[in-house]
Amino acid sequence: MGALPNRRVLINLAIVALAGLLIFAIALPSSRVTLRDLVKQKPNPEIPDEPAPPPKPKYKPEPDYLPPPIKDNFPLLATSSPPPIPKWNQPRQDAHKTYNLPAAPPLFIGFTRTWPVLQQAVVSYITAGWPASQIYVIENTGVQQANARGQLSLQNPFFLNHTALHALGVNIIQTPTLLSFAQMQNFFLSLTYAHDWPYFFWSHMDVLALAYEDGRAGLTPRYDAPGYKSLYELALTALQTTQEKGHKWGLRFFSYDHLTLVNPKAYEDVGGWDTLIPYYMTDCDMHSRLTMRGWTIEDAKAGIITDVASALGDLSALYRVDGVEPNFVDPNPPPPKEEGGKSKQRAKRDEDPNLAKWNALRKTADRMFQHKHGDRERNTWQLGQHGGEGEPFYYNAAGLAEGIEVMTETGREMYRRKWGHRDCELIKKGGLKFEDAWRVKKDWD
Ligand SMILES: *[C@@H]1O[C@H](CO)[C@@H](O)[C@H](O)[C@H]1NC(C)=O
Repeated sequence: MGALPNRRVLINLAIVALAGLLIFAIALPSSRVTLRDLVKQKPNPEIPDEPAPPPKPKYKPEPDYLPPPIKDNFPLLATSSPPPIPKWNQPRQDAHKTYNLPAAPPLFIGFTRTWPVLQQAVVSYITAGWPASQIYVIENTGVQQANARGQLSLQNPFFLNHTALHALGVNIIQTPTLLSFAQMQNFFLSLTYAHDWPYFFWSHMDVLALAYEDGRAGLTPRYDAPGYKSLYELALTALQTTQEKGHKWGLRFFSYDHLTLVNPKAYEDVGGWDTLIPYYMTDCDMHSRLTMRGWTIEDAKAGIITDVASALGDLSALYRVDGVEPNFVDPNPPPPKEEGGKSKQRAKRDEDPNLAKWNALRKTADRMFQHKHGDRERNTWQLGQHGGEGEPFYYNAAGLAEGIEVMTETGREMYRRKWGHRDCELIKKGGLKFEDAWRVKKDWD
């Protein structure tokens, strides 16, 4: 009898303990199996009766055409220093001083992908007279130190050959992360503060630049006549004329906007580029805002700067190396339909041999332009340089192209909401002024 109360107490204690455990288990906030699940008799999704097959992603079809691997378009550089540039285009020491300019203007060329095309732009500016030491390639690849360390292969879309650029004598500035177009423009502006540059030129990387070696009325005589001016000297001339007018100059466009001269004060006055509009339409936004604030935008001429998507097979042609006939290859070709452009330029009897080489280059540049704007689908990046798997900071090439398209679309919507207007004509067709940004309703339907 003496043991009975003790047992009852023990049983009561056990019941209280169990009840406590039950309440704790029910209240336990967890997605895992709890007593609550057991009480509610839910089937446990993690322990099914029959094992379900693992989920299978649906893959996109593989492209049925892949172009051959790209080749470097300046093989000479691997074995020797660059050939001399045509002597009539060789930059004079401190040429800018003879144009009353306080500083030599830097030329920025942004690079994200497609090395042969970038290398062509750089070499074409150098051989058209731009001093290599005043050219700044802005590496905007997002691959951090990988290119500087030579860790990427030629087939990687982000490949940039630092050794080759240094051999050419140009400078490389790296962005700290992959920037959009608008962000990179603001990065250009930031460089003017860091280096005290009162003005700068910037060029697209997909251009081929040639000087007016055949002469142009009002600009320059032929290459072999006294007073000839290279592309660089004409750019300096345009800069001097612009500066001397002493007005609120904003931009000067050469060959549309293939090369642009910028007044950083104008960028500063309008608060820089709008990075919420990352790609297309961001230029409409910027140029309109410059005009709204009274900064002038005018056209000027310095040379033939052609918009291209392909690169000369051998850049030695730009140095007029004997026996190298200009032809071109598309590093991002569409599936083959037509034969790639091959140039067969024969010097006409009595034609000046130097002009014959120049004419061959100019005609090839024309065909490269036709090729870019012909039935070739623009920007077929996914078919071009597509290698680099396993290399540092590898990124799927087609994915990058698609991602930029999506951001471009977002930017267009941003622009429409900012100005309540859909096309580029904010002032003429929208009647908008600088202060109207983000304060107007949409002006359509
Ligand atoms: C980079 O350029 C240098 C100098 O032109 C050349 O020797 C080297 O082979 C190039 N690297 C690649 C990976 O093409």
